[in-house]
Amino acid sequence: MKRIARWAGFGLGGLLALVLLAAAGIRGMSAYALTRNQEPRPERIDMARADPARGLHIARTRACIECHGEGLRGTKFFDEAGVGTLYAPNLTLVAAQASDEQLARAIRQGIGHDGRPLFIMPSATYAAFTDAEVSDLVAYIRTQPRGGAEQPAMSLGPLGHLGVATGKFLTQPMLMARYRANPAPDLGPRYAAGRHLAMTICADCHDSALTGLEVKPGVVSPDLDIVGAYDAAQFATLMKTGLPPGGRELVMMTGSSRASFSHFTDREVADLFAYLKARAARRQEQAAGSAVRGS
Ligand code: HEC
Ligand code: HEC
Repeated sequence: MKRIARWAGFGLGGLLALVLLAAAGIRGMSAYALTRNQEPRPERIDMARADPARGLHIARTRACIECHGEGLRGTKFFDEAGVGTLYAPNLTLVAAQASDEQLARAIRQGIGHDGRPLFIMPSATYAAFTDAEVSDLVAYIRTQPRGGAEQPAMSLGPLGHLGVATGKFLTQPMLMARYRANPAPDLGPRYAAGRHLAMTICADCHDSALTGLEVKPGVVSPDLDIVGAYDAAQFATLMKTGLPPGGRELVMMTGSSRASFSHFTDREVADLFAYLKARAARRQEQAAGSAVRGS
């Protein structure tokens, strides 16, 4: 009896040791992915021609202010038991230490001013910004007076570390390669403005090709060919109020529309709608084409 108990104890102890070892391994792999420094490309910014007012419009419509807060002093924007607690940093304090070039690099290369690969900050999406847009954003960040407290560092729970270690949560430089390989379809110059808007914000949650993804556990964004079923007024209502046809509140879209997309100009909403409508039509034609070929 005693012996069995001892064996059972050994078995349990061994199992516990294995679990601890695995947990340490996962944490180690996760820490490695999160801190491995990246080699940046030179940034072509033109601060002489940058316009902070245009930068403010970009910052509002691309969710910078939704995450970094009014005045860019940072917010806690994600808090889920087991996964982690995430804070967007106080950019007024970062800007006091970083050069224009370093800010631009953080925005569209996903490399922090300290050389760290950024996590969660949607740089893979912002990689599509033009030189002028990123310059305007940097100029706007510089207009915000320094103030407020430093935000805490992010803290990942076991599921967060597991996600990083297994490659489910990629750092932005890693995600960027995937985004570049799978862009939203180019439908020519007539739809270029709308495509650019979609690539610089919608792609953050609907994936680079706008085909939808699981944004966070249990919350799935649809393929944006769903816009094929919208008319222009319904699409404008979604962007302005966050309510789809039928008027029900959506888990993520409603908040993001109210905070960010409601600031799009009418022209931007029309450009975005034209592109998404054309994309949906083309996908429908492709589906019909392959059905005919298949029969
Ligand atoms: C989903 C939330 C979110 C959005 C949207 C977002 N950020 Fe961030 N941002 C973060 C987080 C989180 C970090 C810190 C990431 C890290 O430390 O790994 C960060 C980091 C940064 C940094 C780098 C700080 C450094 O250490 O060098 C800059 C600059 C920045 N963001 C600017 C912007 C701008 C400009 C926009 C809009 C174009 C934007 N962010 C949109 C969450 C966000
Ligand atoms: C912060 C993440 C996020 C961003 C950014 C985002 N979406 Fe969404 N979107 C979602 C999610 C998640 C859903 C599914 C509904 C829900 O749970 O909110 C959704 C649903 C939708 C729907 C379907 C609504 C319905 O049920 O009829 C449309 C259309 C849409 N998004 C368009 C856009 C467009 C256009 C953009 C860019 C301007 C955009 N989204 C940016 C997360 C996002």
